[in-house]
Amino acid sequence: MTELEFTRISSFLKSRYGIDMTAKKEIMDGRLTNMLRKNGWNTYTEYMNAVESDATGQLEKELVNLLTTNHTYFMREFEHLEFLKSQILPYLKQKEQFTRDLRIWCGAASSGEEPYMIAMTLLDFFGFEHDNWDTKVLATDISTEVLGTAIRGIYSKTAVEGLPEHWKRRFFRELPSGESYQATEELKNEVIFRQFNLMRDFPFRQKMHVVFLRNVMIYFDKETKRELVQKVYDCLAPGGYLIVGKTETIDRESIPFDMVMPSIFRKPLS
Ligand SMILES: C[S@@+](CC[C@H](N)C(=O)[O-])C[C@H]1O[C@@H](n2cnc3c(N)ncnc32)[C@H](O)[C@@H]1O
Repeated sequence: MTELEFTRISSFLKSRYGIDMTAKKEIMDGRLTNMLRKNGWNTYTEYMNAVESDATGQLEKELVNLLTTNHTYFMREFEHLEFLKSQILPYLKQKEQFTRDLRIWCGAASSGEEPYMIAMTLLDFFGFEHDNWDTKVLATDISTEVLGTAIRGIYSKTAVEGLPEHWKRRFFRELPSGESYQATEELKNEVIFRQFNLMRDFPFRQKMHVVFLRNVMIYFDKETKRELVQKVYDCLAPGGYLIVGKTETIDRESIPFDMVMPSIFRKPLS
């Protein structure tokens, strides 16, 4: 990969998806090289010419699937789910008692572990009352590959190992191989998976109550992150929450979120 080719691919990725790989040439080369060889392109220039002129968008989709970092796991930063259950949901249950409609969005859902945990928390919290509420979680990501995994809802035995026993028993079925588990229809029905690029304008007609945007802004530069947090602020209802990864921060100087605790932010009520 020449410097020029690297600049071309990283600019493409950054301008369309916000992902900043400008200091990650080796990683990029490592992730793309097999695909290049397998598909018979001689150079990255040839390959990028094909990506940019592919009207179907298929090559671009594959490029995104290869270049995104999708690492995630069940129980990651579980304190956020505990906060959701003990603080946010009691507040929303009271606030939305007449509409019985909750709008929770997981904006970098990867292979589904995070939105399924949110959904299990909701099902747990509402218990028998759940049927009277619309609590479906919207889960989006740009990578179609991980979304495919999320929709299938099949995870290895080791992946589900750390889940609380009562969740595993209620929401997962062991598959005949004995090596993996699949989310039950009840759980799958609680999550709506869609492809969505966070760089785009948000299409929501109604305001969100909670937005999870965990461990994704680390791939964006400061300005991209600021613009994204502003869009999240605008899409939240007053009193709504933004939850980011535990190692992440947001720029509160320009965006008036209140900090509830590090990594949990709230839009003021008025
Ligand atoms: C490291 S994973 C984080 C998954 C999960 N939120 C967690 O905390 O475990 C980051 C995800 O962000 C997605 N992503 C990166 N850029 C994106 C963008 N512009 N729009 C939507 N998703 C994006 C990637 O595809 C990847 O699945």
